[in-house]
Formats: sequence, C-alpha cells, structure tokens
Amino acid sequence: MKVYIETYGCQMNVGDSEVVLAILRQVGYSRCEEISRADLILVNTCSIRENAEQRVFGRLDVFRQEKLRRKGVIVGVLGCMAERLKEKLLENKAVDLVAGPDSYRQLPKLIAAVRLEGKQIDTLLSHEETYADISPVRMDAEGVTAFISIMRGCNNVCSYCIVPYVRGAERSRDPQSILREARELIAAGYREITLLGQNVDSYCWKGTDGTQAPLSFAALLEQVALLDTSVRIRFATSHPKDMKDDVLYTMARHANICKHIHLPVQSGSDAQLLLMNRKYTRETYLERIAKIREILPGCAITTDIIVGFCEESEEDYEKTLSLVEEVGFDGAFMFQYSERPGTKASRTMPDNIAPEVKTARLNRLIELQNHNALQSNQACVGQTFEVLIEGTSKRSEAQLFGRTGTNKTCVFPAEGHHPGETVTVRVLSCTSATLISEIVK
Ligand code: 5AD
Ligand code: SF4
Repeated sequence: MKVYIETYGCQMNVGDSEVVLAILRQVGYSRCEEISRADLILVNTCSIRENAEQRVFGRLDVFRQEKLRRKGVIVGVLGCMAERLKEKLLENKAVDLVAGPDSYRQLPKLIAAVRLEGKQIDTLLSHEETYADISPVRMDAEGVTAFISIMRGCNNVCSYCIVPYVRGAERSRDPQSILREARELIAAGYREITLLGQNVDSYCWKGTDGTQAPLSFAALLEQVALLDTSVRIRFATSHPKDMKDDVLYTMARHANICKHIHLPVQSGSDAQLLLMNRKYTRETYLERIAKIREILPGCAITTDIIVGFCEESEEDYEKTLSLVEEVGFDGAFMFQYSERPGTKASRTMPDNIAPEVKTARLNRLIELQNHNALQSNQACVGQTFEVLIEGTSKRSEAQLFGRTGTNKTCVFPAEGHHPGETVTVRVLSCTSATLISEIVK
C-alpha cells in the first residue's frame, strides 16, 4: 500500500508528517511521491492564516479528481485545519478522513473503518501525547538536517493565535526519548539537528514519578549538544517573555550550538503587545536583544512580525518600523493580520484595519527589512564562514548551498564537495537573501 503526504505550515508539521509515516509503515504503507500511485492521500494542514487554509481547499479539489479517476483511493485531512474545522471538513466531497494532531495513532484504525463504513473523524486533543516512542520516518532519508519535536502544544494565549486551540495544551517530551532520537539521527549520518517546540524556553521535564529534579530547556540543549560535538544543533522557537540567560550561556559554551535565535517580536508598540497578550514590552524585548549581544557577540537574530492587527494606529506601526531599524534583524517573517475564528481577538476585538492599509504597511516593512538584511549580508563580504553543505543549488548542478551557523544561506561552486560535508567559504558578494561564496578549505 502506498501513501502520499503533502505538508503545509511550520516545521512542527513536517515532524508530524514523519510521525504519521512511521505509524503507517507499521501497518504496511510505504511513501510514494506521486498522487497517481497512492492508495491513501494525506494532507497535513496549517490554520495560522486564512490563505494557508485556502491553499488546502484548492488541493482537495485536485484530490477529488483523483478519487473520481481511481476507485478506492482514500483522502485524509490531518493537522491544524482538521482540528479547527472538524466535521465541517467531512462535508467536503474529497474528504474521507479527518484526524487532529493528537490522533495519529488512531490512523490505521480509522483507515480500516473508512473502507468498511465510510467517513471517519478523530479530533480528540490529549494532555499527554508526545509520540515519544515513535521513530519518525524522515522525509529526506539521505538528508543532512533533521528536526526533533521536544514538546507539543502551547499554553500561551496570544490573542491573534489559533495554535493553542488546534494543538492543545503544552507538554514536554521525555528527554531520554529525545536523546535516543538524536543518537539515531547521528548514527544515520545527519549533520544538523533542530529541536522544535512552539515555545522551547518553557520546556520542562518533571519525570513521571515526581522524584526527579525538573530538567530545563538549557539542560536538555546541553545534553543534545554533547552527544557529538561535530553535529550542529539548532532550536526554535524562543519566546521573549521566557528566554532565560542560561540558554544563552549554554550556547556560548558549545561551539556546535548554532549562534542563531529566532525571537518573534510581533510588534514594536506596547499598546499592540498588550492587545496581543504577549506579556512583554518593547523595552523588555530590547533588553533581551542586548543580553544576546552581550553573551553571544555575532549571534544572528531573526523575528516574526504582524502588521495590521486590531486597532493598530499609524503611530503603533511606526513603532514597529523603528524597532526593526533599532534591532537590525538578520531575517524576519512578516505577515498581515488574518483574523482566526475562535481566538480571543476574533471574539473581543474588531479586525478594523482596512485590507489595503494592511498590505501597504506590510510592503513598507518588507522593504525596510530587505534593506537591513542586505546590509547585514554586505557586512559578511570578504569574511570566511564554516558552512554545512545541504544540497545542490536550484539554479545549477555545479553549485552547492549550505548555511552558516548564523543561518545565512551561502551558494558556491561544488569543486568535488558533497552534501553533509562542512567547508570553509569566503563571501564574494551578496543579495539580501544569499551570500555568493567560494570554498577556501
Ligand atoms: N495572522 C497573521 N499572522 C499570524 N501569526 C500567528 N497568528 C497569526 C494571524 N492570526 C504569525 C506570528 C507567528 C507566526 C508563526 O505566524 O507572527 O509568530
Ligand atoms: Fe504549525 Fe501553527 Fe500552522 Fe499548526 S497552525 S501548522 S502549529 S504554524
């Protein structure tokens, strides 16, 4: 039996798709990359913004065509949209199966039931499920980099965000199972591991019998880094209200922990941060940035920003621009606010920024950020960096690409080198997204 799986949304979802493949493998499914050969078509979905959901509905139309062509094909919707829309998704003619993020162990049972009785759904959320015992089937078996989920769910209630509703309460995964998975990856030849959680700084393992001292994220990070000092370690995402100095000191102590922190700020205005329920201020965010720069000079800092959130005035927006200017982020994901039904904002605040104002604000912000990213990259020209080679460049077979520890993408002539190797490159020129380089060692 063949399963085809398409994944939308964050890295967490990629990790979940790998868990799903492992669960299905146990009952005889292997992965295929063409819809036309699949007995089971799965789409692992994202609900973070409306356009993410629209894209999936478009795909469901395509899957429906495939079902009309070939009798017996089963189509399942997994992930955050499954959890958010529940039965409503079963009304879609393409959909046979709906399973939320904590229901993947039920998939074999649900698939069998679809064959016997038709449409099936399981969207029960759990307080315990971490899929700790499952060794994910990697999307990229020959890969260089891999993710490990160290926790699931989220206990923050940022007022704009659907995540806590679709991924449930926060729970940390047993560190022994995390270390086991990391060892398996290292033994399989992976050269970089990214530890994933919605809010890694609140990782806390208290054991199962109440006798252990709690294990913090910094302690876990250190244990993973010590497994093999030639393997790079990354992590995401950090939260400005929770990121402690102990994580920064741990990063400073271990050369193999990449010097990059993704620290979403969302807005530079205290009024907006309060409405967003982010639980920090512009000032305390900037203090965190100063601390990173003090303990980890040269550490790259990236962020997420939302423009056009409820009640955002020109003044609020200008404060975001000035913060972006002040910090000089190495990279940023920037979004227009998209109201998500069920969130605190959708229930209690008006989505009152006109779409064209949102778009104009986003465009101006992107322009500013691109300018900053270009400046940050230009400062790298002439310098040398250690780069882990991840693959061949999309544009040319003769070119390889990889990233610096600070998460900057470098492209350079292959000269007989291969993915998985670490090389030293010198930067010759740049764009706002890429460092054009050559191998020096
Ligand atoms: N609208 C727009 N962007 C959002 N994000 C989260 N929820 C929304 C929303 N409703 C952004 C935040 C978050 C990133 C993953 O997505 O910036 O950090
Ligand atoms: Fe990931 Fe959030 Fe999208 Fe779910 S809604 S896939 S948790 S980004």
